[in-house]
Amino acid sequence: MTRTSRLPGFHRITIEERRSLVVDTTGTDPGDIAQALQGGGLAAETADKFVENVLGTYALPYGMALNVRVNGHDRVVPMVIEEPSVVAAASNAAKMVREGGGFIAEADPPLMIAQVQLREVQGATNAAARVEAASEEILRLANGALGGLVARGGGARGVQARVLADDVVVVHVIIDCKDAMGANLVNTVAEAVADRIAAIAQARVGLRILSNLCDKRCVRVRCRVPASVLVTDEMDGADVIEGIVNASRFAELDPYRAATHNKGIMNGIDAVVIATGNDWRAVEAGAHAFAARNGRYAPLATWRRDNDFVVGMLEMPLALGTVGGTLRVHPAARLSLRILGVRDAQELACIAASVGLASNLAALRAMATVGIQRGHMGLHARTVAVAAGALGDRVEKVAAMIVEARDITLEGARRAIEVLAGDTIGESRAIDE
Ligand code: MEV
Repeated sequence: MTRTSRLPGFHRITIEERRSLVVDTTGTDPGDIAQALQGGGLAAETADKFVENVLGTYALPYGMALNVRVNGHDRVVPMVIEEPSVVAAASNAAKMVREGGGFIAEADPPLMIAQVQLREVQGATNAAARVEAASEEILRLANGALGGLVARGGGARGVQARVLADDVVVVHVIIDCKDAMGANLVNTVAEAVADRIAAIAQARVGLRILSNLCDKRCVRVRCRVPASVLVTDEMDGADVIEGIVNASRFAELDPYRAATHNKGIMNGIDAVVIATGNDWRAVEAGAHAFAARNGRYAPLATWRRDNDFVVGMLEMPLALGTVGGTLRVHPAARLSLRILGVRDAQELACIAASVGLASNLAALRAMATVGIQRGHMGLHARTVAVAAGALGDRVEKVAAMIVEARDITLEGARRAIEVLAGDTIGESRAIDE
């Protein structure tokens, strides 16, 4: 088995053929794919154990980002997303990045923060100092609540107290969650240590909960793309680089633009986060809080020219798990991890962030050249064609017709379906005659 993510022509073959190619290149069991993805990957009876008042499940497309190479390893990356063109664009950008050696990524150790808020504090600075001086006792207490995690090599690592106001102190207990996302572990610790911390600070306990601004658990990705692969029919590579660098500068200067720039990054990251059964709301909250950490909302990824290359850099918090939570029960999430072949949660974070940087590159390159709508509308047209009732090979035909007519609407698609139906009647009459 060769684990390659270069699978030319993948978009042109049938779903069954794609599944067998993924089996061949990742070693996944063919039965696993069919079983895990049947009916959207989750039976209503299982969903009923996840959340409350369940009526059924709600499926989303499960696609594959191709061409992704992270730290020298090829990965076929599952993406769960409803937006047309994101998977194709990420795959296309990842192919360009390969030409410059692929993504180079690193992830911090999986350190999460449990917050214990202290209220009605008197002498906040002294209270904070007393809490930090009692770190060893607090860490022992925290580890006592984390039995299994400590046995697996994780556990509480540090205590920090921050004065927020004259009467408010917050205590952070830092926890190494190993391969878990960690929300449950961290909340358990916050509740287990709060009373003792309040006694040491001689204050009242406020909230006890994790922080989603997990800035001790950041991932950093870098890529270097040669001008030669960025060229389009209308623009040479140097001009495209100039356009990408200009787009980065715009996002660095303007929070309104930075929000959309970051949305493009999260298109890639969220899709991997969802495919692997992780909590995308937590990831989103952390990403945007981090983007605003210096008091001004900023882009998570930036781009610079380096001679004949454009260099992209992304940094953000990314709390992902490869054990526990949804993964225990969602067959499609477990399938995604098998397809990815990741060793641990840090490796998964490196891959998800790389797909985010690829999505960003694809969007900036498109906007710096032909604009986002050409590719986007072509794919959107397929969704509209399906919504209007087109089936089988008619979907592509109807989509092409409404793009050509610049009328990508349900009405336009219905008209195209009628025209095609008329043609078929005409054709069969011609055969009869
Ligand atoms: C659309 O989903 C994402 C973009 O708006 C991102 C961007 O503007 O950078 C194309």
